[in-house]
Amino acid sequence: MLTIFSGVQPTGTITLGNYIGAIKQFPALQDEGQAIYCIVDQHAITVPQDRLELRKNIRSLAAMYIAVGIDPKKSILFIQSEVPAHAQAGWILQCIASIGELERMTQFKDKSNGKESVSASLLTYPPLMAADILLYNANLVPVGDDQKQHIELTRDLAERFNKRYNDVLTIPDIRLPKEGARIKSLQEPTKKMSKSDPNTKATIRLLDTPKEIEKKVKSAVTDSEGIVKYDVENKPGVSNLLTIESALSGVAIADLEKKYEGKGYGDFKAGVAAAIIQHLTPIQERYYSLIDSQELDDILDEGAAKANTIASKTLKKMENAMGLGRKRR
Ligand code: TYM
Repeated sequence: MLTIFSGVQPTGTITLGNYIGAIKQFPALQDEGQAIYCIVDQHAITVPQDRLELRKNIRSLAAMYIAVGIDPKKSILFIQSEVPAHAQAGWILQCIASIGELERMTQFKDKSNGKESVSASLLTYPPLMAADILLYNANLVPVGDDQKQHIELTRDLAERFNKRYNDVLTIPDIRLPKEGARIKSLQEPTKKMSKSDPNTKATIRLLDTPKEIEKKVKSAVTDSEGIVKYDVENKPGVSNLLTIESALSGVAIADLEKKYEGKGYGDFKAGVAAAIIQHLTPIQERYYSLIDSQELDDILDEGAAKANTIASKTLKKMENAMGLGRKRR
């Protein structure tokens, strides 16, 4: 049976980039095998976090996972720090990763660029991500384009471990979405839309109100041509909005181009905003009904227990293969 694993950092309300690039795929995949979705709070602390904000964001992400359609009866939903095997296996994988390959990760380069001091964990973040995936013997990892290099490293580390010690780890494959693997900033459409962008107009968040969505789409950077056509090279802003509407409405980009033929960017942006609002409204309703519920805690408790059972088994196999600890009779 296929095992699917993915994770999202609880660092602020998730964006349309996170949603279209990764999370939107999660509910569909729960019928393809055993799906396991994680709130990776230990990854979040690689940069400083306010403790109250972090706690709030963890709960918020858990509610959002369910609101978008993850069914806790089918999928395992849990918080990374509640399953100790992640940090333990992360350490083991750090021991087989080289500093050089970690320094080559573009996300490390981006996040450390120009900073006088960064945490050691920013460098050792990918082995922890590899541990997340490998502990569950995942075959498939649905993520956006920016995680491609980390998945390739995960495969390399797993292969290295298997070769050096014993054939313990499953080599996972990446699953990118058909469209929207890299949703762009609304203000700088050549850059990716990012949770941590300080410019609030650049990102649409899943909990934005209809008014906020309309305003942000209206002020999205396009071009002066006035023609709604998909052309990433020459019309990155328009292409990004077309990608967003297509991903959320299910209407092909070519059909959207026809829909907006002869219309200006005013009509186009109103249409894009309407598609976003229509898609997000039911998600937001479910989210608000869950956020303060005991049900959410019960789901996370059950998820942590199930995740612990699977993860500790793989960890034991890894430790045995390496000769850590004592042999149990
Ligand atoms: P994170 O929290 O930054 O992002 C969560 C998911 O959203 C995708 N994504 C995007 N997709 C399209 N367009 C964008 N603008 C965009 N921005 C973000 C990301 O590719 C990701 O799939 N390291 C991971 C979290 C992680 C993980 C894992 C993922 C930790 N362990 C194990 C998979 C498996 C991260 O920081 O994602």
